[in-house]
Amino acid sequence: MRAVVLVGGFGTRLRPLTYSTPKPMLPVGHRPMIARLVDRLGRGGVTEVVLALGFKPEPFVEAFPDGRCGDVALTYAVEPEPLDTGGAIRFAAEFAGIDETFVVANGDVMTDLDVAGLVSAHRDFGAEATIHLIAVDDPSSFGVVDMADDGAVQAFVEKPAPGTEPSNLINAGTYVFEPSVLDRIPAGRPTSIERDTFPGIATDGGMFGVATDDYWIDAGRPEFYRAANLDMLSGIRQHDRCDPIAPTASVDAQATIRNSLVGAGASVAAGATIVDSVILPGAQLAADASVIESLVMGSIGQGAEVTGSVIGADGVVTANSTVDGTSLPAPDA
Ligand code: GDD
Ligand code: MG
Repeated sequence: MRAVVLVGGFGTRLRPLTYSTPKPMLPVGHRPMIARLVDRLGRGGVTEVVLALGFKPEPFVEAFPDGRCGDVALTYAVEPEPLDTGGAIRFAAEFAGIDETFVVANGDVMTDLDVAGLVSAHRDFGAEATIHLIAVDDPSSFGVVDMADDGAVQAFVEKPAPGTEPSNLINAGTYVFEPSVLDRIPAGRPTSIERDTFPGIATDGGMFGVATDDYWIDAGRPEFYRAANLDMLSGIRQHDRCDPIAPTASVDAQATIRNSLVGAGASVAAGATIVDSVILPGAQLAADASVIESLVMGSIGQGAEVTGSVIGADGVVTANSTVDGTSLPAPDA
């Protein structure tokens, strides 16, 4: 089984972190989230992943120079221009010559979903497209479905206005498609699979949903990216766990670290305190710095206090200053 994984977005909501690292290459539990996703697809029977790349393809090629991630072969399909989710799926599938049932996944979804189970449900339904669904409290920032008892998706609406959602079942970002889905996507121009393609498949009766209560998170927003990392420590993940401190991090014995991760090569000086945070590769915390509920890639000066903030690779918090609820450097948009 082959899979197309969408990894070409701009990662806008994770700026400034994504100024230096594309979203799917950001670590979750000290490994790029794409590597954890590919591992999971591999456990579900996927043998080749076609990476639908656009924005910043180089880090992916550099991270997997032999074209493999574990047992899974990687193919790199680099779009000439951003084609949005639908256009990217068509471009990547054609690039790789996909002509049979295939899997598609959003590159920022961390889940324990059993992909083999989704594929077998797809075959049982005789569906054209089968999508993984998760129930959430606030569905309006996702794709939302109206699903019948037999699993038929009667309507799909992307990011409905709050209060207008047809249900609390959301598109969890893993699909199984027949190749005929590709014919529904116009070639060579930006098309949203969610806005332009799914509603038509649903209307034609070819779309089915499988709702599960697996662990699931879209790591594309700072709060959820932080949670996806902290969840690696708590033991709630089926296969994905990690130690809090990466082997190549340098952490002074006089630092206090609670419910946090310190990534490869990061340095933490004496007296620093880190709580409920993710210290990313390259970050430097000077003596007595304090970091609470934050994501840090940059440099935190001596005695500085950082709370609820996102500090990018070029972010510098000066000694003894206080930063609260801030992104540094401030994102353009
Ligand atoms: N190659 C390529 N080209 N990839 C793209 C492009 C593009 O032009 N635009 C977006 N992507 C990739 C992103 O990198 C990401 O992996 C995936 O497509 C989905 O884009 P997001 O920007 O993360 O979408 P979202 O989180 O707002 O919504 C999507 O995911 C939700 C579940 O997490 C939708 O699929 C929703 O329906 C869904 O509920
Ligand atoms: Mg997303």
